[in-house]
Amino acid sequence: MAVVSMSAGGQAGRRRLYHVVSTLDFGREDVERLMDKAEQLRTESRERLRRRLEGAVVASLFYEPSTRTRLSFEAAVTRLGGRTLGAENARENSSAKKGESLADVFRVVGCYADAIVVRHHETDEIARALPVSPVPVINAGAGSGEHPTQALLDVYTIRRELGQVDDLSVCVIGDLKYGRTVHSLLRTLAYFRGVRVTLVYPQSLGLPDGLRAELAATGLIIRRETDFRQALRSADVIYQTRIQRERLLDPAEAREAEAFHILPEHLADLQPHARILHPLPRVSEIHPAVDDDERAAYFRQAENGLYMRMALLDDILGGVER
Ligand code: NCD
Repeated sequence: MAVVSMSAGGQAGRRRLYHVVSTLDFGREDVERLMDKAEQLRTESRERLRRRLEGAVVASLFYEPSTRTRLSFEAAVTRLGGRTLGAENARENSSAKKGESLADVFRVVGCYADAIVVRHHETDEIARALPVSPVPVINAGAGSGEHPTQALLDVYTIRRELGQVDDLSVCVIGDLKYGRTVHSLLRTLAYFRGVRVTLVYPQSLGLPDGLRAELAATGLIIRRETDFRQALRSADVIYQTRIQRERLLDPAEAREAEAFHILPEHLADLQPHARILHPLPRVSEIHPAVDDDERAAYFRQAENGLYMRMALLDDILGGVER
């Protein structure tokens, strides 16, 4: 667990995150603290917010496309009074193009910034480069591996919408093999009590074996459902995902997923209190006519990402002398 102790001037005894590269870098207590902080920050005045990261510089390096993650991180830094510097499309526009390793990038960018937010196309590259980083690193999506800050905002959304995370029935649909948001969400749900997970997926896009075994060992209750409508009927939370076409070896793998698209006629199957989440971007797996239903929570979820990322940055960088 990546935790640094507080020096004089900080709140004594308060835990504080440092690197957030995997969901293993936080535990339930941290998730609860961040959710409470996110809730507090959404009501704080713009002026007070601006003092929290005054003088901080956060680098944002995106080697893969992003809209929400990059912009919500940058908005979070800006609202907290810090500044961002960055490379969008870093695979093309940075020295990666010349063959520079991510480790060298961390060493150098760590001299310019107080923290690095990074998205990378290789699953293990961020973790591999991490030991040489002089500053905290936040994983904003690593290949088909993890996306831990998305899991934080997903769980925050579940708590905001349904008042709890414990004891819920969560149905996860789509690309469970390459979907990094799914991997991080399931690992994070395993920190909670009594969560029952139902998985709906095309035969070739199930969870990676290693992850399945790891989750089983945590005691998380997981089962597969092949009857899509039955899965919808029994869920408190429906977590729909996009087929990661850019990572598929065989595009035919995607075709089977069309049976799992959420259409307006499925709304009648959902429980009245159920909520539909999606990390976005959506392609065709949720019909736009579903958006106006109160149970469609995915745009609120994207908004929650701003507050959760503010909470995370404040946790890592707030109250530090600069
Ligand atoms: C996801 C991602 O990049 O993994 N998007 C996001 O960060 N909200 C999901 C996806 O691309 O399908």
